[in-house]
This record gives sequence, structure tokens and C-alpha cells, in this order.
Amino acid sequence: MPTPQETARLEQIKRTWQQKRQITERLDKIKTKIGVYSGKGGVGKTTVAVNLAVTLAAQGNTVGLLDVDIDCPNVTKVMGITDKPDYVDNQIIPSEKWGVKVVSMAFFQEKEDEAIIWRGPMIHNAINQFLQATDWQELDYLVVDLPPGTSDSPLTIMQGLPMDGFVVVSTPQDLANLDAKRCINMIRKLNLNVLGVVENYTGEVFGHGGGKNLAKETDVPFLGDLALRSAYRDSSKPTALLDKSVGEEFTALSEAIKKSLKEFGCQAA
Ligand SMILES: Nc1ncnc2c1ncn2[C@@H]1O[C@H](COP(=O)(O)OP(=O)(O)OP(=O)(O)O)[C@@H](O)[C@H]1O
Ligand SMILES: [Mg+2]
Repeated sequence: MPTPQETARLEQIKRTWQQKRQITERLDKIKTKIGVYSGKGGVGKTTVAVNLAVTLAAQGNTVGLLDVDIDCPNVTKVMGITDKPDYVDNQIIPSEKWGVKVVSMAFFQEKEDEAIIWRGPMIHNAINQFLQATDWQELDYLVVDLPPGTSDSPLTIMQGLPMDGFVVVSTPQDLANLDAKRCINMIRKLNLNVLGVVENYTGEVFGHGGGKNLAKETDVPFLGDLALRSAYRDSSKPTALLDKSVGEEFTALSEAIKKSLKEFGCQAA
């Protein structure tokens, strides 16, 4: 006769196994999963994730955007989403805007216990529940906006979410690239793919070339520059859909990412 503790432990193992199986089934329907990541905050991860997602969608792909930035989940703000996702039979049906299906931690922020839920090992559990419950249907691409840095939370997410590769966002400045180097090393330590480096804020103000140097030094593909532009101040629409030059930059970025995915042997739509 098993003791109550043994029974409880067995139940726990069973639940974890069922959860893992359900997550695998969910993610199996997604052809390519791309993480957008950086060494430090404010370099433009959310901007890249959102504009990359809408660009891929405008090319005719089915695209999802998952915001797992625990501290600042602001994808919904940039996408202009006010609707919460639907819940049907305990499943999350993603909100949709600009042709992209969106799920964000921000949808769950109103709960009183949010500060407790999003700390330490619970992050792992919360993300798993998130992945388990979301019904993305078939997707060509899932773009994931990650929290910055090499702390516990991006690490937890990288371990829990099987990604095909990461786009590292850096800036033209050298100091930021030191942080970017650290994050490239972290991705490699986890035996995951670095799809390449994209330099954001390129132009007269901050200069250019830091991203290219970083890519060379770390031996990863350079995916292109994104200029510092006032067009990003208009928040009525993702900038790639609003401004021709930005649209072209993101088309070039999407092509560079697809090329890199192919080189890593990943399935690109
Ligand atoms: N190329 C650009 N030109 C002008 N403004 C930009 C550019 N890229 C991003 N921004 C602006 O810079 C701010 C920070 O960008 P964003 O929120 O994408 O950074 P982040 O890396 O996601 O930040 P966090 O680490 O806080 O999540 C935003 O207001 C965004 O509109
Ligand atoms: Mg962000």
C-alpha cells in the first residue's frame, strides 16, 4: 500500500508528464519558433519582435507572438491590443491584430497575486501552464519576446520553451555589446542556436558597426541594421506597416533570419 506521500508524489509526476505531453503537442503544430533576446533592456527587443511578426504575417505566413517578458510585458501596448484573449474549455484563444495571434503575460497581470506568481521557480510553472493552455492552431512562425539579461527569468524560459533559435538585438555602442556577448554565450551554453545579431538604433546619433563587429567576434551571422527613426513615435500601427523604409528593413531582416534558419537545418516557411 503506498503511503499518502508516495501517492501524492506519483500524482505530481503524472501531472508533470501530462503537462509536458500537452506542451509538446501544442508546439508540434508550430513550424518555427524564434526568440528575440538581448543582453540589456531597452535595446529594441519588443520593437523587433512586433515588427518581425507583422512582416512575416504580411508575407502570408501564419504567425504567433508570445510575450514572456515577466517584468515589462509590453507587446500588447505596442500592438495596440485592448481585448483580452478568449477562454474556451479552459483554453486560451490568442487575441489577433495586424494578422498576428498574440498572447502576453500582460493579459494575466490584473490578478492580485501576480508579484508572487512571477518569481523564482514559479516562473517555470507559469510559463508551462501558459504554453499548455494556449491554442495557437497551426503556425508557420512563433516569435517570442524574451526578458533581457542573463538572470534567472530568461534562463528559465529558454530551458522551458524549445526554440529553434535566437535573434540577438544589440546597439551600435560597444558597452551594450559586452552584454550582448554575455547573452550569446548563455544561448550557446544551453546548446541553442544563435540565428544572428541585428543592430538597432543605427545612425548619426549612436553610430554604426557595433552589431557587425559583435557578429564577427562571436562568429554568428550579421542580420542587418535598423536605423534610429522618428517614425517609431507613431504608435497607431506597427512601424514596419506604417513606414516604407522600416518595412524594407524588416523584410530584409526576415529574409536574413530565414537564411540562418536554413543553415541551422530548421524548417523555415
Ligand atoms: N530604431 C528605432 N528608432 C527609434 N525608436 C526606437 C527604435 N527601436 C526602438 N525604439 C523605441 O525605443 C523604445 C524601447 O524599445 P523596446 O521597448 O522595443 O525595447 P526593449 O528592448 O523591448 O525594452 P525592454 O528591455 O524594456 O523590454 C521604444 O519606445 C521604441 O519605440
Ligand atoms: Mg520589451
